[in-house]
Amino acid sequence: MCGIVGYVGERSAQDVVIEGLRRLEYRGYDSAGIALVGAHGLASDKRAGKLANLEKAIADHPLPAATTGIGHTRWATHGAPNDVNAHPHLGAARRVAVVHNGIIENFAELRARLEDDDHVLVSETDTEIAAHLLELQVQSGVDLTTAMQRVCSQLEGAFTLVAVDADDPERVVAARRNSPLVVGIGEGESFLGSDVAAFIEHTREALELGQDQVVTLTRAGVEVSTFDGRPAEGRRYHVDWDLSAAEKDGHDWFMRKEIFEQPRAVADSLLGRRSASGRLQLDEMRLSDQELRDVTKIIIIACGTSFYAGMVAKYAIEHWCRIPVEVELASEFRYRDPILDYSTLVVAISQSGETADTLQAIRHARVQRSKVLAICNTNGSTIPRESDAVIYTHAGPEIGVASTKGFLTQLVACYLLALYLAQVKGTRYGDEIDQVLGQLEAVPGQIEAVLEQAPAIYELARTHRDSGSVLFLGRHAGYPVALEGALKLKELAYLHAEGFAAGELKHGPIALVDQGLPVLCVVPPQGRDQLHDKMLSGIQEVRARGARTICLAEEGDERITPYADELIRLPRVPVLLQPLVAVVPLQLFACELATALGHDVDQPRNLAKSVTVE
Ligand code: AGP
Repeated sequence: MCGIVGYVGERSAQDVVIEGLRRLEYRGYDSAGIALVGAHGLASDKRAGKLANLEKAIADHPLPAATTGIGHTRWATHGAPNDVNAHPHLGAARRVAVVHNGIIENFAELRARLEDDDHVLVSETDTEIAAHLLELQVQSGVDLTTAMQRVCSQLEGAFTLVAVDADDPERVVAARRNSPLVVGIGEGESFLGSDVAAFIEHTREALELGQDQVVTLTRAGVEVSTFDGRPAEGRRYHVDWDLSAAEKDGHDWFMRKEIFEQPRAVADSLLGRRSASGRLQLDEMRLSDQELRDVTKIIIIACGTSFYAGMVAKYAIEHWCRIPVEVELASEFRYRDPILDYSTLVVAISQSGETADTLQAIRHARVQRSKVLAICNTNGSTIPRESDAVIYTHAGPEIGVASTKGFLTQLVACYLLALYLAQVKGTRYGDEIDQVLGQLEAVPGQIEAVLEQAPAIYELARTHRDSGSVLFLGRHAGYPVALEGALKLKELAYLHAEGFAAGELKHGPIALVDQGLPVLCVVPPQGRDQLHDKMLSGIQEVRARGARTICLAEEGDERITPYADELIRLPRVPVLLQPLVAVVPLQLFACELATALGHDVDQPRNLAKSVTVE
């Protein structure tokens, strides 16, 4: 998720672009860059780090005045966050500059073709190939709009591309597929932004683009076409948000926005994971297949919500790979004198990549000669840098302290790791792996279906604003979901909440159950051994003692109905994948209850987004 700005009109393009990037910096802050086109041709600068670094660079080395320009703040997916990988990227002749948000899934084969034709690509990014391909097109004599249509027809994946041509300074051209882009319509000027925050100080007249569309901006106005060159229409609308609401896409909290971004985040985390031959590929993996085949034990270490993702991973890895998995709190790991050696793979899960407990744990593991694989959302952060291999989640920056899309994309990365290990060790056939990948690719739509129930879940949450305590129950892969649901309520509503393995209730915790006590129950899918029956028994036990049962159960499960005081329906998914849909109602519940209690949902008391102290 990056910040993109484009402008053509009468004003200083540098001023409009830099200010627009500042409004979008929350979308990505690994690096920033700008390209301006005018009588002088094309001028560009880009710097790793915050936008301020770029501003200092262009203050020290001013760019020529121009009224056409594009800019970018990056959230790295491919390639470390440094000057070379920063956007804009230019073609070989430095005639075309392009900025990009998203993932070009087939960039490796396109890059190989360019290099076979003696193109020299200097960055690690997928974006740079687009600059070379666009430049080849305009050099063949077509205009930038036609060039964009032709290049986008070759690309696979999710992308927003915005480009300028030094030989055509009155034009900015952009295209989108499964990635955000919105047009601002001014008087004698036009704007582009990843969202309206980029330009609402200049105009509130906006144009929403459809899928697979190209848009051409000139001073005269805006033209929309399809990738095959046919005229098309966008949807005009008036923006009535203020800037703060625009940054949150109209939501009250970043956290709520990030809950609703989860379908996109999960889809982005699945992009580019299949090779041209259809095999699963983890392109950041830097452990060889043989090193992975030598793994005889896995220890997952993490903290908080990431620890619960590790608990889900245990079920998946053990079931698909038959490798024993331990899941350990990072803060406890090195004090228990763990048994580690070269055949132990330590998996560190961290959204921020800076959690001190987890960082110290992997340092201990590496001293014991274990290989370390990081699952992380922050490219270039300390934990992946100190690991032997990494799988990056593609959730984009997570601003809310309470992790939501970070958690779901960690689950996706854990499933991908489990499937990759199964592929390497041969414990699952290719068609079985394919089947699970297909089930994962259906999850974004299933999360959307759960999100459609948000109003009812909000109403339910508000009825519990006076609750003193809430219990969460789950079994098997639903147990970590119960723990995560309880953590969300603790950290947002400051409520006593506790998650239990449902089978553990009768061994003590059931003494907590009293009249009216809310108990949220994650009901496993039916048909998975006795899991479902055992969960119903647990629900009956608490209900018989006065609990108010709020049950999350799959569509078609009618056996739960008599035992549910409230029923939230989940899409039917395999038991191992159910956490991906079951956690969403619990996120919504906690977010709304905290809002009803008047709490700061994005920055809860006593908490930090990244805990960099032990
Ligand atoms: C989750 O909502 C919390 N913010 C917290 O538990 C978090 O998951 C934990 O601190 C680990 O952070 P990390 O994933 O960045 O390492």
